[in-house]
Amino acid sequence: MKKNLILIGFMGTGKTTVGAALAEELGLVHRDLDDAIIAKAGCTIPEIFAQKGEVYFRDLETEVLSELLQEQPQVLTTGGGAVLRKENVQCMLEGGLVIALSATEQELIRRLEADEGRPLLAGGVAQRVRTLLQERKDAYSFAPIQVDTTEKSVAEIVGEILSAMT
Ligand code: S3P
Repeated sequence: MKKNLILIGFMGTGKTTVGAALAEELGLVHRDLDDAIIAKAGCTIPEIFAQKGEVYFRDLETEVLSELLQEQPQVLTTGGGAVLRKENVQCMLEGGLVIALSATEQELIRRLEADEGRPLLAGGVAQRVRTLLQERKDAYSFAPIQVDTTEKSVAEIVGEILSAMT
């Protein structure tokens, strides 16, 4: 088994919650790429986007991803856009077993409307989710394990991931 489990997926697919539960189940450390970016930048993600722009954020994301993947074993959860650069995809495929979480558009809108702090959704969650889902429709398909989280409990999702890994 590869030493790192890397969770990818669109915003709101449950990566962080599921990653924490999966790490606990397996007795592994859980690290989150967005948290590591925040720690390195010393400010929040909306602040990074507002003050430095998306390209700066993506550069930081690429740098921190490769740093985090030097360590193992761990469950690493990533931001929804971390797969947008080919070099990051390569880094993930070399660094561990990649697991993609998904959910229906309707479910994502429901979850994300109840949440804040995502600069890419500013100006109308439903429309932004639809647009970004369309733009990213193939972005997560490289993961060998694919799990739909719609209407499932965290325990069910963890169970599905574990059985797909064996
Ligand atoms: C982003 C997703 C966010 C965060 C940033 C950009 C994206 O993470 O990295 O706001 O481009 O999809 P979550 O997927 O954890 O919300």
